[in-house]
Amino acid sequence: MTESETTTPRYGVDPYLEWVNGEGIPVIDGGYAIDLFTVETGHWARVDTKAAAVHLTGRGDFNNMFLYEVAPGGSTGTIKHIFEDIYYVLDGHGSTQLEFPDGRKRSFEWGPKSMFSIPINVAHRFFNAGGRERALICATSNMPLVMNTFHNERFIFDNPAEFIDREGQENYYTGEGTFIPIRAGNHLWETNFVPDMSVLGLQSYADRGGGSSNIKFVLAEGIMSGHMSEMPVGTYKKGHRHGAGTHVICVTGHGYSLLWYEGDTDYTRIDWHHGVVFPPCDGQLHQHFNTSHEPARYLAMGIGNVRYPFTQKKRQTMIGEKGQRQRSSLSIKEGGNQIEFDDQDPRIHALWLEEMKKAGVTPGMDAWVKS
Ligand SMILES: [Fe+2]
Repeated sequence: MTESETTTPRYGVDPYLEWVNGEGIPVIDGGYAIDLFTVETGHWARVDTKAAAVHLTGRGDFNNMFLYEVAPGGSTGTIKHIFEDIYYVLDGHGSTQLEFPDGRKRSFEWGPKSMFSIPINVAHRFFNAGGRERALICATSNMPLVMNTFHNERFIFDNPAEFIDREGQENYYTGEGTFIPIRAGNHLWETNFVPDMSVLGLQSYADRGGGSSNIKFVLAEGIMSGHMSEMPVGTYKKGHRHGAGTHVICVTGHGYSLLWYEGDTDYTRIDWHHGVVFPPCDGQLHQHFNTSHEPARYLAMGIGNVRYPFTQKKRQTMIGEKGQRQRSSLSIKEGGNQIEFDDQDPRIHALWLEEMKKAGVTPGMDAWVKS
């Protein structure tokens, strides 16, 4: 017998899952959605803080979520890596210290509802400035993509490569940025840090209906995507679909989303408030509804942005190819990814009217949907 006949053949391997299951932190299978405030964390020796990996049904092939919990008055260890992530602060006040390959250091201070990115392979650590409360920070990352490509821990965490084009302008860690007008729905805010996502200025996105507005991000010159959307009081947006991995997290207000596949006779419903996150699955239709007495904002974090779409699907959805209109705002009936209000299942509006009654909020959709 040769050696190859006596050893177990190795096949069907997911190097990312093998790696994360060996890290000693809770790896949470959260189903479609999870409230990140309820997730249990455990000590992560690699980062020297409490953490968890959060896997949701719609995370797709490229993305995951990490959750970091920094003890009152404590800090994480220093880490650098060549995967990218978008951090969103759920709770707590603190700072991030960066150390660039040439030895320069800089830091910036964050608080609840801050968002930031760190240029790939720049060393960083988090400090919790609060003496009593934990700091809780989630991060949508492309670690699965990177680990499944290289399956080499040293390449990812101990790599001498310098990515000097990723640092961005000096003011990108002060809360400032560059507004880059592209088109309604695709206007860009280029920065590395947004101090408070609940008050960031947005742009009208009339094609999505319901008075919706948004802004998209380019962060640390990376390939991760972020966008912030808002639904005014008494409104909801058109249903739409796109690829997997876009982690939607509620920032202000509360409401619910419906998820379904074309041809389904029923909906999966997710009720959300600050801290609830869910990534719709690949090609799964979904629609967001504000039922609160304040504008509802959500941050969506995934892979592929307006500058670097990364996948053909994302390019078709956001940019449009070969002179075609971008599919994100084109009706499904015309080969696009959006369900116009006139075409939506009447049960959707009826359910929403019921929810508005329960919530005591005056419906404000008359301009878009006939009751
Ligand atoms: Fe979406």
